Amino acid sequence: MISIRFLLLKLLFDHLNLNHSLLTHKRIHMSEHSIFETEDKIVTNAEGILERENDSTNPLFDPFSGLLKSYKKIFRQLKRLIKLSDKQQLKLNQLNESLEVENYELVLELGQAFESFVRALTTTVDAKHPITAGHSHRVTEYSLFLGKQLGLSDNNLEVLKYAALLHDIGKIGVPDAVLTKKGRFTDEERLIMNEHSAWTYKILSAMRLPNMLKNVPKMAACHHEKLNGTGYPYRLRGNRIPKFSKILAVGDVFDALTSLRDYPKYDGKQTMGMEAMPIEKALSILDKDKGTHFDPDIVNMALKKADSLAEYWQKFHKR
Ligand SMILES: [Fe+2]
Repeated sequence: MISIRFLLLKLLFDHLNLNHSLLTHKRIHMSEHSIFETEDKIVTNAEGILERENDSTNPLFDPFSGLLKSYKKIFRQLKRLIKLSDKQQLKLNQLNESLEVENYELVLELGQAFESFVRALTTTVDAKHPITAGHSHRVTEYSLFLGKQLGLSDNNLEVLKYAALLHDIGKIGVPDAVLTKKGRFTDEERLIMNEHSAWTYKILSAMRLPNMLKNVPKMAACHHEKLNGTGYPYRLRGNRIPKFSKILAVGDVFDALTSLRDYPKYDGKQTMGMEAMPIEKALSILDKDKGTHFDPDIVNMALKKADSLAEYWQKFHKR
């Protein structure tokens, strides 16, 4: 009799433990089917034992059958509890799913809010220097196109997007008299203008950027560095220039050459007009300066995809 009681109590505790794990774990590693199977087995075993205990022809008949009946009731109650806990688990799963959807929407919303904030920042540069309005947006589109062709992952393209959108944010730090000057800069004015990329670094470094964008300040600030080390602000050379900055450099110069400017363009030998340059001419300048200023792989990709760049240009400049 003691051993049967012991067995019943063990089954009872096992069962309670099972329910405990059901209620305390958000994720069940046991399939729903196997849970039901286990529950049925426990109850069937318990009921079988109780039936035998109530059989007076059984030599192990227990005169305290009232006690056994109460065990039976307990197991029935347990069975109902199991069903109840299954319902709770189902509700918990549904709640988890809806929370996951809510979290996803929240992250999406925060991402969109952040991007709109960054784009609004670029608009402040446009407002300060209207003739170059849209430059950051166009550089972003050209850079993303080239980055995609060069095989960058979606995450890296996202990083490149913010580096491109913000590359000229430092122009905020350049005095209007220099930034909006009509005509060529003096040497002193050129130096002041060149400080805009160091300003970009200073402004972006002060922002609390998401971890994924932690290298954006340097990437954005290095868009005027040249492979041969004659660029600015840090005079970096070759591989010391971040790869994304090299993509920005191509997008940046391509847009500057193919857009109207308030200073004459210069191809290294002669000064040309302020008007937008034909795409073929701009690409030939990039081609000439690859290996000294620009990364050859990126320029070669731009040359290979000249038709697509021309389509982008049409979209941006023709209404
Ligand atoms: Fe710039």
